[in-house]
Amino acid sequence: MATDRLGPDGTRRVTVSSRDSDLVEAACVLFAEVFPEDRRYIPYLRACTHGRHPSHPRTLDHVWLFQRADEWVGVAIFSHILTRSFGHGAYVGIVPHAQGRGLGKWILSEMLGQLDEDARQSGLSGSIGYLGEVERPMDAGTEEERILSERRLQFHRQCGGVILPVPFIEPVMIESVDYLTPRELEGESPRPMHLVFVPTERGAKIPNLDLVDFIHGIYLDVYRLSAQHEYVRRSLSYLLETK
Ligand SMILES: CC(C)(COP(=O)(O)OP(=O)(O)OC[C@H]1O[C@@H](n2cnc3c(N)ncnc32)[C@H](O)[C@@H]1OP(=O)(O)O)[C@@H](O)C(=O)NCCC(=O)NCCS
Repeated sequence: MATDRLGPDGTRRVTVSSRDSDLVEAACVLFAEVFPEDRRYIPYLRACTHGRHPSHPRTLDHVWLFQRADEWVGVAIFSHILTRSFGHGAYVGIVPHAQGRGLGKWILSEMLGQLDEDARQSGLSGSIGYLGEVERPMDAGTEEERILSERRLQFHRQCGGVILPVPFIEPVMIESVDYLTPRELEGESPRPMHLVFVPTERGAKIPNLDLVDFIHGIYLDVYRLSAQHEYVRRSLSYLLETK
């Protein structure tokens, strides 16, 4: 078990590798608890524990678990995009009784540190941050959902995140993965989301963010859509129109 860093309340960060099946199972159980509506994406979590997975040719993936005393209290799944100077944050989830004590903020700063290290390993001078997809409160079906997505947005803002001024549709899944079939995701639909950029210190100093690079990175390199895909064209045409 690769254990490295300590955070708030002595919480331990543990790297989940596909080679440790007990840890992978613990991550799957916690993921299902924190994100019950996304249970069907557990094969994605498993794939990410490989670090480099053939279905994710342009990302280096990380899965972390967080342990307080003897209990697993959090999980994070994120990736460095090998072809870019930024990453993609897929999930950060903390069990309800451990929320609101600074753990989420610490996890995000640890993720930024890892992405910086990954970027350096790729020969860059560092990472500028990562992109995450956050539900738009305006799409919430109920008041409860609206409050939840407001909180998620607020959390990202408090961690330095900015909403990018570009329309974004989240695809149901990365294209052509070998561990999940479209049939297994039947009923899921693409969703409009806010694309939130959480910068590293270096990224926060960039005067003009390259939004086209962000769109290409997330759609072409993470989701593996073609450059002609309607989502890509829609986001890019919006950017060109508003220049
Ligand atoms: C969102 C989540 C990761 C935040 O983690 P957390 O440990 O509760 O957050 P922290 O205690 O580190 O708070 C960090 C900042 O966000 C703010 N924040 C945290 N929870 C908040 C809430 N419910 N409403 C408003 N602001 C909130 C805090 O005020 C804090 O800012 P501060 O340091 O200036 O006071 C956690 O609540 C969670 O796992 N929720 C369920 C899953 C989820 O929604 N994940 C995010 C989408 S992938």
